[in-house]
Amino acid sequence: MKEIGIGLLGAGTVGRGLIEILETEGERIASRTGVRPVLRRVADRSFQKKPVLSAYAPTASIDEVIDDPSVELVVELMGGLDPAGTAILKALRAGKSVVTANKALIAARSAEIFEAIAEGRKKNPATTIGFEAAVGGALPLVRNMRLIWSAGGMQRMVGILNGTCNFIITRMQDDGMEYAEALKLAQQKGFAEADPSFDVSGKDAAQKLAILSMLAFDVSVRDSDIVVEGIESFHRVDHELARKMGRVIRLLAIARRVDDRLLLRVHPAMIPANHLLADVRDEFNALFIEERYAGPSLIVGRGAGALPTAAAVLSDLVAIGSGSANRWVGDLQPLKSLEDARYRFYF
Ligand code: HSE
Repeated sequence: MKEIGIGLLGAGTVGRGLIEILETEGERIASRTGVRPVLRRVADRSFQKKPVLSAYAPTASIDEVIDDPSVELVVELMGGLDPAGTAILKALRAGKSVVTANKALIAARSAEIFEAIAEGRKKNPATTIGFEAAVGGALPLVRNMRLIWSAGGMQRMVGILNGTCNFIITRMQDDGMEYAEALKLAQQKGFAEADPSFDVSGKDAAQKLAILSMLAFDVSVRDSDIVVEGIESFHRVDHELARKMGRVIRLLAIARRVDDRLLLRVHPAMIPANHLLADVRDEFNALFIEERYAGPSLIVGRGAGALPTAAAVLSDLVAIGSGSANRWVGDLQPLKSLEDARYRFYF
């Protein structure tokens, strides 16, 4: 049985979800996949207040975990650009693979990450990064970009990519809740980012769209390149009005190929109440795609929350541990910049 020694950086909502799955399902994961993920070290700023971590030699020092020789793979679940970015680059350069749910980092610093992978591969040719959990929680979107949609024939993606926004919108619409009340509930349920303005402003969905577009169209897209509008200004009455018109409001993330251009935007939209995406409620995410060879597909599932996101992290752990991970991440180098690409923004 192949063991893979894991160092976890950040034991917040998702980190503790991962610990829960590993503790309760560890044996079953090993027998089903042939890979035994073994959590060896945890770094967390407030580890003293989290007794569940005591079995994993907890520390407040990120470097201590990355440098630990028993740690072969680093799981980064701290979020934010730094110190998470420094930690990820350090681990990769040392030839340790990384699994992360950090969409902000992948969206903003993919070029540096690819360089670090290339450097790490001089020490360990298997060095790679998994970021399935960065987009759409438990939905297999990153994976499908490599497998089902690998031919590069993506025409259009329309997604509901932020669970917090969708939760707020559907509670306002279905239960008549006010915005602030619904947001508070989303925070309590662990869907929202540490700073929920990232969710409600549409920035989080834009980061996810940037990552999907990078994978689908082979261009370097930053979330700051995308036109974004959030859901902060909606009141209950807007939802009532939409309903009277036979419509519902959803925050959509859209990437569309128009001739040799790319249209990229995130904004609320009124869609017919009988549309498939109108049935996507609460923290669920969805991605509808049109691909030249695969045709249309719709993937729906839990896009936020401790266990769904931890399940996506686990899928990367197993893929990397069994040697079937996304080798193409490094092979994409160099990504075309938007200026060099044959795609141009289109508004
Ligand atoms: N805050 C994010 C959301 C978490 O609500 O979708 C998952 O990325």
